[in-house]
Amino acid sequence: MAQVQYYVASTIDGFIADNNDNIDWLLQFGFENFQDDYDRFIADVGAIVMGSTTYEWIIGEGEQAWGYGETPVWVLTSRDLPQVPDANIRFFHGEVSDLHREALAAADGKNVWVVGGGNVAAQFADRGLLDELLLTVMPIVLGSGKKLLPIGDMTEPLALLQTTAFPRGAVGLRYRLTKD
Ligand SMILES: NC(=O)c1ccc[n+]([C@@H]2O[C@H](COP(=O)([O-])OP(=O)(O)OC[C@H]3O[C@@H](n4cnc5c(N)ncnc54)[C@H](OP(=O)(O)O)[C@@H]3O)[C@@H](O)[C@H]2O)c1
Repeated sequence: MAQVQYYVASTIDGFIADNNDNIDWLLQFGFENFQDDYDRFIADVGAIVMGSTTYEWIIGEGEQAWGYGETPVWVLTSRDLPQVPDANIRFFHGEVSDLHREALAAADGKNVWVVGGGNVAAQFADRGLLDELLLTVMPIVLGSGKKLLPIGDMTEPLALLQTTAFPRGAVGLRYRLTKD
């Protein structure tokens, strides 16, 4: 069955970016050690959702940073934002439960990737619409920054589905949030 998955990297203390939306702390670890894991994950993704802060960070890196091909991507925003040329992007403003239905339908049996940030992932989680958290914990502590998952109420204890040891001390954790 198609899953809604938050696939993300965080610090040990639960931050996905610093207070200025900088992720140099993450980029220093390189992508090569995580490429196979990402390739396996993305092969099952049929639709993508992200918040405007995350979108603006990606497009700020230049057009070549847009690596999602033909996959439909919803960007949540209340503002008029620039489009990446030739990308399959829809801008969305409103209730994420409406978006949840639309994205799952577009994914056509594949999974929906909630790229982040924590703000958007938390809206899904607060409504019981986030099925899995696929977290790579990087061996670093930031002290403050943008939260991994700033939900309204604490969750039940989560079911651990998988662990992965990556080089350089990073650990992959896959948790189920919703009931089967
Ligand atoms: N470590 C990682 O793996 C990872 C992954 C993803 C992101 N990040 C980083 O995390 C940071 C961003 O995280 P974040 O949680 O602060 O922001 P975010 O979720 O990317 O974006 C939040 C913004 O999206 C818009 N938005 C959210 N929900 C909406 C809704 N229902 N309808 C309309 N607009 C909506 C709002 O902005 P407007 O309405 O003003 O547009 C809101 O301020 C960035 O620095 C990014 O690079 C890191």
